[in-house]
Amino acid sequence: MTHGVGGNPLGEALASVPVQARPDIAAMDGYHSPQVACSVRLNTNESPFPPPMAWQEALADEVALIDFRRYPDRRAVALRKDIATHHRVDHEQIFVANGSNEAIQTLCLTYGGAGRSVLVFEPTYAMHSQIARTSGSAVIVGTRDDQHRIDVAAARLTIAEHQPSIIFICSPNNPTGLVEAQETIEAILDVAPGIVVVDEAYGQFATWSAMQLLHPSRALCVLRTYSKTWAMAGARLGYLIGPTWMIEEFDKVVLPYHLDAVKQIAGRLALRYEPEMRSRIAQLVVERERVLSALSALPVKVWPSQANFILFQPNHCAADDVWQYLVDHDVLIRNCSSWPGLHNCLRVTLGTAAENGEFLCQLEAALLATCATASVGQTATVSESI
Ligand SMILES: Cc1ncc(COP(=O)(O)O)c(C=O)c1O
Repeated sequence: MTHGVGGNPLGEALASVPVQARPDIAAMDGYHSPQVACSVRLNTNESPFPPPMAWQEALADEVALIDFRRYPDRRAVALRKDIATHHRVDHEQIFVANGSNEAIQTLCLTYGGAGRSVLVFEPTYAMHSQIARTSGSAVIVGTRDDQHRIDVAAARLTIAEHQPSIIFICSPNNPTGLVEAQETIEAILDVAPGIVVVDEAYGQFATWSAMQLLHPSRALCVLRTYSKTWAMAGARLGYLIGPTWMIEEFDKVVLPYHLDAVKQIAGRLALRYEPEMRSRIAQLVVERERVLSALSALPVKVWPSQANFILFQPNHCAADDVWQYLVDHDVLIRNCSSWPGLHNCLRVTLGTAAENGEFLCQLEAALLATCATASVGQTATVSESI
């Protein structure tokens, strides 16, 4: 069977492919975060500050001692123990992975799959539904209110109707920056028939953590990553904390020796530099408040954030035009305007003070330049729009 679509170049290209992917995979778009070469890169919520030099030096010293002939520790026990100490839990409650994305994948392979469903609340981190789909799970989309908070009453009905095997809650939510209330998570836990996952990739920025709700009798787990607050996106390291019965199942599913020896050392050493990590967060919070206040003086709608990024929506200009203007002026942010529930929205990651200053300066110019040719379903003059 071929996929040919008359007159469609993609369809014709697919038609010449000798073996077709699974139909649901072939129909997918894949994950797109453009890696455009700009000097000011504020598009993927990375840390603008490098990890401490002392960490880099200690890592180089320890890497020199690795016996590369041998496979690494398959269960990464030392790393699990150090993470467990950091969070004051048992190391049997920790599952470590190549970025929290791999933890999400392991979770979906273990508890999702054909005949099962996964509930997400859009707008949220796109990989939850993307990975759920690749695992063969059906994706159910729950609703949020106009503040982007999960609508608990609606969630209860959706859960009762679909009985999802996994429920993803992102808090602080990417890309809105909103922290979900504890009562919301508890209300969902009360009715969830399967696993509830709280993705806390930006957890250190938040006012509370769902880790305090972890309990052996609860099907709750929490995701964390080294990619953001630990300034180690290049290391690809993340982890999940949950009850031991859940972790034991993940260990059966994940590939043997998936965590290389360098990564295991990098993760252990990083934890020695927690004060530096906290200080990076403090600097970013100061920057966040400064950028939020500067944005509120511009013709954009801004959402409050408890993360290292801010969601905003130009009042009268097309987000696509603003994004392109910024790229043309060497500033890369995230264009979310085609994401569910985020019409005409953009997301900016907080960078250094200099990067944020450059972003604000170029944004102001972009709003001036693009609103002159505004095309967001309304005709705005420059004076009306800025
Ligand atoms: C909410 C959320 N979860 C998970 C991830 C994945 O992070 P990583 O795989 O780098 O640990 C991201 C990355 O942007 C994210 O925003």
